[in-house]
Amino acid sequence: MSDSDVVPAGYASTLFDLRDRVAVVTGGGSGLGAAIAIGYAQVGVKVALLDVNTDGMSETESIINSQGGNVKSFKCDVTSKEDLTSTSLKILESFSRVDILVNSAGTAFRSPAEDFPEDKLDFILNLNLKGTYLAGQVFGNIMLKQQKGSIINIASIGGFNAYPLASAYLASKGGVVQLTKSFALEWGTRGVRVNGIGPTLMDSPLTKKAATTTSITADFIKGRMLRDRLGLPRELVGAAIFLGSDASVLVNGHTIMCDDGYLIA
Ligand SMILES: NC(=O)c1ccc[n+]([C@@H]2O[C@H](COP(=O)([O-])OP(=O)(O)OC[C@H]3O[C@@H](n4cnc5c(N)ncnc54)[C@H](O)[C@@H]3O)[C@@H](O)[C@H]2O)c1
Repeated sequence: MSDSDVVPAGYASTLFDLRDRVAVVTGGGSGLGAAIAIGYAQVGVKVALLDVNTDGMSETESIINSQGGNVKSFKCDVTSKEDLTSTSLKILESFSRVDILVNSAGTAFRSPAEDFPEDKLDFILNLNLKGTYLAGQVFGNIMLKQQKGSIINIASIGGFNAYPLASAYLASKGGVVQLTKSFALEWGTRGVRVNGIGPTLMDSPLTKKAATTTSITADFIKGRMLRDRLGLPRELVGAAIFLGSDASVLVNGHTIMCDDGYLIA
């Protein structure tokens, strides 16, 4: 290798270049998914929003359009493989390829473990874990054909340690961390990387909804964060750009914590 090949001229300036890549963002109609979708569009990514919330998608879409981005919305339930498959065909018709998948559709419910309602347990595992698995499988198959792609699963600090009243959620996110590793292991030799983002408690509609039920969980988490405030959805955009881009070419199977220091101690 000659000296000029070590870091060829212009190399670093292309690392984060996502112009004209295509990203599918599940849960793009609200909160973290909406922020990541808007952030991606700002750096030239063509964005496909997937959500069951059509009003939410319209809001995200109008923000992206007003900022000069390229976006289309697709009503889709990520817990249905049939729905995901038909939606993926529509996305291919519109955008021809899928370079990035962000799995942000998810939910939470707080209850003591001894009384956790079975229907809520099923709902959370089905959406957070199975929905992430199925979307990864459907769009992962497209990426495997392309021999290139990056999947980003929105996990949580709750995938790594426990906090009160969230047993089903913690189990689902622990599962997401493990499925991130397993997909990464199976697909990493075929050009598809699979990573996660692990946010701390964020200022999103989901948190606001949960906080009306109890603040025991939020107080427990906030007491372990280093700054005296919740994370902002836009504060995940940098990690999403890094993981979606060639800058993270050697990063595979990891969940990058965006946790304001929550996991330090
Ligand atoms: N908010 C937080 O503090 C926080 C922290 C860590 C991780 N997370 C995770 O981030 C992700 C996004 O959370 P958020 O705070 O943006 O929540 P949110 O409620 O604001 O947004 C979730 C979106 O998912 C959509 N959705 C729900 N069910 C769906 C389905 N079956 N198919 C397609 N879309 C569906 C909803 O309509 C909504 O638009 C979730 O996986 C959540 O667990 C959130």
